[in-house]
Amino acid sequence: MSGNRLPIYPEAIKIWLSFVPDSRRSAHLRRISLQCFVRHDSEIFRPLGSHRRACRGIIADVSTISVTTPTARYQVHVGSGLLASLGRRTRALTRGCSPRLFVVTSPEIWKIWSTQFLASFPEGQLPQPLFLPAGESHKRLVAVERLAEQLARARADRDTLLIAFGGGIVGDVTGFLAAIYMRGLDFIQMPTTLLAQVDSSVGGKTGVNLLAGKNLVGSFHHPLAVFADTGLLRTLPPRELHAGLQESVKAAIIRSPKLFNYLEANATCILDPQHSSHTKALMHVITASVRIKAEVVDADEREQGLRMILNFGHTLGHAIEAATGYKQLLHGEAIGWGMIAAIRLALSRQLLTPTHALRMETLIRAFGPLPSFSASARKLVSLTGSDKKTRSGVLSFVLPTSIGQVAVVRDVTSTELVTVANSILADARTPARRPHTGITS
Ligand SMILES: NC(=O)c1ccc[n+]([C@@H]2O[C@H](COP(=O)([O-])OP(=O)(O)OC[C@H]3O[C@@H](n4cnc5c(N)ncnc54)[C@H](O)[C@@H]3O)[C@@H](O)[C@H]2O)c1
Ligand SMILES: [Zn+2]
Repeated sequence: MSGNRLPIYPEAIKIWLSFVPDSRRSAHLRRISLQCFVRHDSEIFRPLGSHRRACRGIIADVSTISVTTPTARYQVHVGSGLLASLGRRTRALTRGCSPRLFVVTSPEIWKIWSTQFLASFPEGQLPQPLFLPAGESHKRLVAVERLAEQLARARADRDTLLIAFGGGIVGDVTGFLAAIYMRGLDFIQMPTTLLAQVDSSVGGKTGVNLLAGKNLVGSFHHPLAVFADTGLLRTLPPRELHAGLQESVKAAIIRSPKLFNYLEANATCILDPQHSSHTKALMHVITASVRIKAEVVDADEREQGLRMILNFGHTLGHAIEAATGYKQLLHGEAIGWGMIAAIRLALSRQLLTPTHALRMETLIRAFGPLPSFSASARKLVSLTGSDKKTRSGVLSFVLPTSIGQVAVVRDVTSTELVTVANSILADARTPARRPHTGITS
């Protein structure tokens, strides 16, 4: 059937469609899909509905995962070409209304992607950019205040819609701004880092850091939708890609042997942008990770129970970020070290077999290297005391019990913490590539 058809590129279709009135677009798309062999970009075919489904063999797919909590219901779309259809999708979400649009982003991201971003919107409804400088040190209340002042000066009202276009930092700050400006605005997540696509854009946690610790001020505020365009990852520095994968390793260890095996078996093509299956593999990893996060958030939106398992690796990980001034390590890298600490702690308690511990640590290091850092074990342990996972003075710690399963324990002693902190610090001074199978006290 496709043999007689003409090859055509999505860009050509978009140009053609820009000359066609809205009411005629569906008919034109139908004609194109019958007469031409379409390379990639399924997004332009979305309006075709069932017809599009009939053409599945020749059209690249976008996966859609639903998040359904007691307070919110929205969809996470994962695929390529989503940026090109952001304007149309935004209009669909706002049911034809034309709210004021602001896009919160970092100058670096805007420099690379602003042309494509703005091309997705009609001339009269271009989102106004607001900038947050890159880096964890800007994820602070002062940045939220500055952005809120800019919104107020631009006369943003309650119907205003914000778009978070960036990594987890832009997402967390924009979400918090949306939660508190005029007591609540709608916002959309368009994550541009792997970490934000696999984890932080989903689940409604928003907030900023205090000097005393990570994410200590914040709010639960879900987006209207999440659009994770895998094409945006093309410009992501490799170190950021590796760090983002640590959140997928986390998702696999806590809940999915299937994802764990996939990450193990496909590490090479996941890490190599030149590999012919790279994009397909990333799409698989993002979709699987989002599914896990959505399941957990659906079951426990406010972290009363199950959602705590998403904190695997984060207790010591957050302490490492704070101890190194949020400057030396990326979030995912600190979580990598934090997961290694939790694995070694589980091993020392004989909750985990050495074989599973070795596979876990090997996978974490496969997505490294985890950068070296130095800190004192006592400081790391004391910083875990100001973590949000502490309730009534008791620290909850997530420990793996096998691949795909974890337990939340509340009896970890400070002696155990110091021992395990010393164990990772010994490696972190001169990062060893060789995984450990045990800790010595
Ligand atoms: N809310 C949650 O549930 C949740 C979950 C996990 C992590 N987080 C938070 O996420 C944050 C980390 O997010 P992150 O790892 O995405 O880091 P990030 O937001 O700092 O982004 C990483 C860097 O990459 C640049 N960048 C982003 N996208 C790019 C692209 N497509 N091309 C080129 N450069 C690009 C950014 O400008 C930045 O310098 C942490 O603050 C962490 O606490 C939140
Ligand atoms: Zn995290």
